[in-house]
Amino acid sequence: MDRLDHLYRWVDDRLDLAGAQSFLGKAFPAEDSFLLGEVALFCFLLLVLSGVFLGFFFEPSTSEVEYEGSVAQYQGEELPESFVSVLNITYDVPFGMLIRRMHHWAAHLMIAATGLHMLRVFFTGAYRNPREPNWLIGTGLAGVTMFAAYTGYALPFDEFASTAVGIGYNVSLSIPIVGETIANLAFGGSFPSSATIPRFYFLHVLVLPATIAGLIGLHMLVLVRQKHTEARRDADVPAPGGDDATAADGGAVASDDDSVVVGLPAFPNQAAVSAVVFFLTLATLSLLAGFLPVHNIAEYGPNDPASTPSLIMPDWFLMWGYGFLKLTPSWLSFDVLGVHVSAEFVGGLALPGLVFGLVALWPFIDYEPEPTHFTADPLERPFQTGVGVAGVVFIMIASIAGMDVILGHVVGMTTAQLKPYLIAALALGPPLAGLIVYAGLGGFADGEPPDDEPTADTGRDE
Ligand code: HEM
Repeated sequence: MDRLDHLYRWVDDRLDLAGAQSFLGKAFPAEDSFLLGEVALFCFLLLVLSGVFLGFFFEPSTSEVEYEGSVAQYQGEELPESFVSVLNITYDVPFGMLIRRMHHWAAHLMIAATGLHMLRVFFTGAYRNPREPNWLIGTGLAGVTMFAAYTGYALPFDEFASTAVGIGYNVSLSIPIVGETIANLAFGGSFPSSATIPRFYFLHVLVLPATIAGLIGLHMLVLVRQKHTEARRDADVPAPGGDDATAADGGAVASDDDSVVVGLPAFPNQAAVSAVVFFLTLATLSLLAGFLPVHNIAEYGPNDPASTPSLIMPDWFLMWGYGFLKLTPSWLSFDVLGVHVSAEFVGGLALPGLVFGLVALWPFIDYEPEPTHFTADPLERPFQTGVGVAGVVFIMIASIAGMDVILGHVVGMTTAQLKPYLIAALALGPPLAGLIVYAGLGGFADGEPPDDEPTADTGRDE
């Protein structure tokens, strides 16, 4: 014991552990939906770990090498090195297939968890003053995470992924004035060239993960500084002591006092909950990786510039942008001051950019002048909840439009026949859904609509 005390004092002298106690005592509201952000965080961690494993075996090069692995159909063939290395990871490296699948599913789960986390923040109004900075950082995180997944998708250099990634190349080229420079910078020259894979590899393993890690760090710093939002309390809560939950007024936190957070201390309680969330995330990814195959590159074959797969589709999280591209009519090309704006640019970048821009600006559109620390009940906010539902319906219809070939097959129509219906659905569906929600929540009722909760007029205790 003496030795342990001695060790503790040795570390304490150097790192001021006592000073860190106020941080370790920070309160986390015990609210399950607040764990979605943690799921995204743990997916990122697992992506880095599995990515390091893959990095030992992946070759970022398109030079032709002879394939000597165990897939019979390619034996003795000259194939691009990156394609060969992913075949080796999948079929010859011990645990390679499992780790490759875990990496793949972790990327998908991270994006899904980020999207759900964002919806949680939106519908509970947790983006409002003073949390606009974290909403902005979060929007950036969502964009960079999707771009990181896109660059990873291209790395095996198989026929399907290369063709799908080529859509992004054409869209970057369509940017007025600077398109060619941006496309050259991101894709290492024209696509697909021998420089594309090394360029994407550099972005995928260094630039984008470092950016995501930096943004997550900033996101967490702002969160710790501002503290969590918290659901409104039904009654006064006895203060158990500790940093946040110590009430100045005789050991109880008043139900309407949002200057303190009531919840579990960061250590050890919340840390234990987080450990459970981590292992559940790991278990989910292990199950997915164990049972669900990913992108079967042996079936698609290596990139072949001379052929085009019959069905080209990006991953599900980019499908809405692809839907915009498909629905934008080709006559929507025009010249402004001698600069050509193509339909590809309008559908592939301007519209998705507008969506991202509106999302980023939302806390300033639904502006709250006073700091608000209690979460809102979505059922009491007809306007905001209606807008949120309309937004979700919009993204869903745009995503269905991205899968128009499959939809056409199901309903027995050509994509050209479907197009006007999809455009009408995209224009009318979201406002209709939003109006139904608005009306259902009493937005049209006489008098004031159900009020947002009262706001606090104080800052928060440190
Ligand atoms: C890589 C993606 C992301 C990660 C790892 C992440 C992580 C987290 C974590 C762990 C929390 C605290 C727990 C929680 O409230 O869920 C949090 C809070 C928050 N996040 Fe994120 N987040 C991400 C993306 C986003 C996005 C896309 C947005 C919105 C555009 C966003 C906005 C916020 C806000 C406003 C809070 C404070 C919520 C509150 O106090 O109730 N985050 N984030």
